[in-house]
Amino acid sequence: MKSTMVVNKLFEISLIDPRIYGSFVEHLGRCVYTGIYEPTHSTADSLGFRNDVKALVKELNVPFIRYPGGNFVSGYNWEDGIGARENRPKRLDLAWKTIENNEVGLHEFINWAKEVNAEVNMAINLGTRGIDAARNIVEYCNHPSGTYWSDLRRKNGAEEPFKIKTWCLGNELDGFWQMGYKTAEEYGRIATEAAKVMKWVDDSIELVACGSSSSEMPTFASWEAEILDHTYDHVDYLSLHRYYGNPKNDLPSYLAKSVDMDRFIKSVVSICDFVKAKKRSKKTLNLSFDEWNVWYHSHAKDSKNEPWQHAPPILEDIYNFEDALLVGCLLITLLKNSDRVKIACLAQLVNVIAPIMTEPNGDVWKQTTYYPFQQAAVYGRGIVLRDNINSPSYNCEEFNDVPYLESVIIYNPDKNEAIIFAVNRSKDENMEFEAELQGFEISNILEHSELTGHDIKAINTKANSPVVPKSAPGTTIKDNRITALLKPLSWNMIRIGLK
Ligand code: AHR
Repeated sequence: MKSTMVVNKLFEISLIDPRIYGSFVEHLGRCVYTGIYEPTHSTADSLGFRNDVKALVKELNVPFIRYPGGNFVSGYNWEDGIGARENRPKRLDLAWKTIENNEVGLHEFINWAKEVNAEVNMAINLGTRGIDAARNIVEYCNHPSGTYWSDLRRKNGAEEPFKIKTWCLGNELDGFWQMGYKTAEEYGRIATEAAKVMKWVDDSIELVACGSSSSEMPTFASWEAEILDHTYDHVDYLSLHRYYGNPKNDLPSYLAKSVDMDRFIKSVVSICDFVKAKKRSKKTLNLSFDEWNVWYHSHAKDSKNEPWQHAPPILEDIYNFEDALLVGCLLITLLKNSDRVKIACLAQLVNVIAPIMTEPNGDVWKQTTYYPFQQAAVYGRGIVLRDNINSPSYNCEEFNDVPYLESVIIYNPDKNEAIIFAVNRSKDENMEFEAELQGFEISNILEHSELTGHDIKAINTKANSPVVPKSAPGTTIKDNRITALLKPLSWNMIRIGLK
């Protein structure tokens, strides 16, 4: 089959906000303990963080990490994680029915994030707590000195403020599973009051209000409209969360899930703009897709977990080749909506539904999904261009008219290159792909890398990692057009040098 892409240098969607390549570290399962932190590990640094994990996180090039939850944050006392470690309390974490020992807290995590070159996106507890804890944590983190909380930070070893810019106003408070679950009116009110006092402490911060915890929630859309009625003037982003799975083993529908993500984003944009119109506001609200990924492989195992363990293995999805293809399609969808999606967090980073896996006191390895994310985070920088795509399409159980080609093109003026990310969803047909880049003069093909040719259920393990990208031959330039072969079931990255 054939597909074409036509773009013009002048027709831009948006400059990509680097925070679109964010991720997420929650005090959940083995994400923190025996994930990023394991003082007894042979590679542990002086603070107990694993250097082997740090190396893979740096290679992943994640510039932004949401912390400390997730459901965990809705019962968290941030003060439990500061001061001398020997005095920190052990607590029941009711979100995941585990024991939290608070060995890792604010200072430790912020230092670690700096080492992996990431900015911290701090979530506050609006479940069991409220505006007092919210204003205090901003004062502790961001106020220079001379007040109770800022001087306590200095006493605890951080002379300079942490200058945390982006804050989440709670987590999934529309969900009955959340500690402190709220109606839209209750959440709208508390989020507004928290936002007010947090910005009074530091007016340079940006705030994310909680949207629905999934587009499948019965309150989806009315939750957004109602909470924004309260919070619109006080916040900067609205959050979206969505996880996908393939429990019915229906590959065509599974690979089309990015169509659902695209609809979800566009619906939330419409709701934001409806509230903007209603309020006659000048301000446009952008989106933070701060939890997205594949999550379903571990459900059966997790239903049998013993409660009240410290850092048990939970939510440890082992990803296969088809999951990597879907992650690629979801990344492309986020980029195509980058005019409104400024922040996105792959949930999560290590062990818990994660691209990086570790063994306690052992190895670290890359899951299949690591690769499309890494290539996008490293090379997908610059301006997303509006493309005109012509591709054959298919119908499946869940969607009609799904294009076999999912793709996006980015122009990076700093490196003078254009980058195409593309997935061929067809199970058995090669795709002859042609791209016409109007307004550019093509110099050469820097690289065509492909992830393809695997059994759809193939996985990477610590001993054997077959699912890795390889160089694809035969990509050519003729009359200022690119011609490439996109193999059946393939993720592709084509980097084009420009004159
Ligand atoms: O990322 C795992 C969990 O998914 C988070 O804790 C929660 O916010 C969501 O339901």
